[in-house]
Amino acid sequence: MASVLPPSPVGVRVRVPAKINLALRVGPPRADGYHPLATVYQAVSLYDEVHAAWADSEEFSVTVSGEGADLVPTDERNLALRAARLLAQTSSPNGSLGVSFSIKKSIPVAGGLAGGSANGAAALLACAVLWDLDVGLDELIALAAEVGSDVPFGLLGGTALGSGRGEQVLPVLARGGYHWVLAFGHHGLSTPAVYRRHDELRPGAEMPEVPARLMNALRSGDPIAVGAALVNDLQPAALDLQPRLRQVLEAGMEYGAVGAVVSGSGPTCAFLAASESAAVDLSVALSADGVCRAVRRATGPVTGARVIG
Ligand code: C5P
Repeated sequence: MASVLPPSPVGVRVRVPAKINLALRVGPPRADGYHPLATVYQAVSLYDEVHAAWADSEEFSVTVSGEGADLVPTDERNLALRAARLLAQTSSPNGSLGVSFSIKKSIPVAGGLAGGSANGAAALLACAVLWDLDVGLDELIALAAEVGSDVPFGLLGGTALGSGRGEQVLPVLARGGYHWVLAFGHHGLSTPAVYRRHDELRPGAEMPEVPARLMNALRSGDPIAVGAALVNDLQPAALDLQPRLRQVLEAGMEYGAVGAVVSGSGPTCAFLAASESAAVDLSVALSADGVCRAVRRATGPVTGARVIG
C-alpha cells in the first residue's frame, strides 16, 4: 500500500477528535470480559493534538499538557505509547525506531469521549508518517483494534457503526451537521466500573442492535428526530454511580436541547441543539446554571485523526 505522507525531519503534528455515541446498545459479557456492542459513533469538533518527534532507537516517551493532564498516565498504560510500540514492533521487529510524544489535551480524561483512545489513534498516524512507513489506513485500523475498542474510530471519524467490542467500524450514510453542547463532569468515571455496574443492573441483556429509528433519523438529517432517538444502555449505570448527572440531563432539556444522552461510559452529557443559535443559548444557560464543571460547544460529524503539520 502507498505510504500515508512523506517523512518529516521536524516531527509530525496530528489533530484528533473526541467521539460521542448517538446509540450505545450493550449485550451480555463475552468470555473475554468485553461486551458485544451495537453503537453509532460520531466524531465532534473537540480535539487533542499529538506531536511526535524522533527519538533514539527503542526510546518511547510522552509528556502531556492541557485539560486533565495530571490524570493521564505517562507509563506503559498510556495509549499513545502502547500504539507506537505496537507499530514499531510490527514494522521493525529488530527495534530501530523510537518516538517522543507531546500531547496537548482538550478532551477531558475519563469523560466518555474516548480521549485516551483518540491519542492512541493519533499516535499510530503520527508514527506512520514520522517513520515513513509503507502502511495504509486499513492496516493502521487493524493495529488500532489491538490498542483499544474505540481506537479504530479515532482514525476513521465521521459517523460510523461500531460492532464487535466497538472496534469494527463502518461509515454510516448520514445527512447534515449537528450542533452539540457537551457538559463535563466534576469527576471522571472508570469505564470498567460502569460496565460492571451495568451488568449488575441489567443481568441477562440481549444481543444488541442499533435502533432503526436512529438510522432513519440520521438519513433524514433532522436534528429533532436524531435528538429523540439518542440512546445509551450504559446511562443507568453512569447515573447510578454519579446521581448528579440526572440533574445535568434535566437542565439541558429545560434549556432547549432536542435530545440528551450520557456519552459512552460518562460522565460527559451530550445535548443536541436544533440550530447553532440554539446551541449558543443552551451552552450559556448551562454554564450559568453551574450544574456541571464546564460546557463546550462542538459540531459533528468531523473527520478522524489528520496530520496538520
Ligand atoms: O477496549 P478498551 O481497553 O478501551 O476497554 C476498556 C475497558 O472497558 C475494558 O477493559 C472493559 O472493562 C470495558 N469494555 C467492555 N466492553 C467493550 C468495551 C470496553 O467491557 N465492548
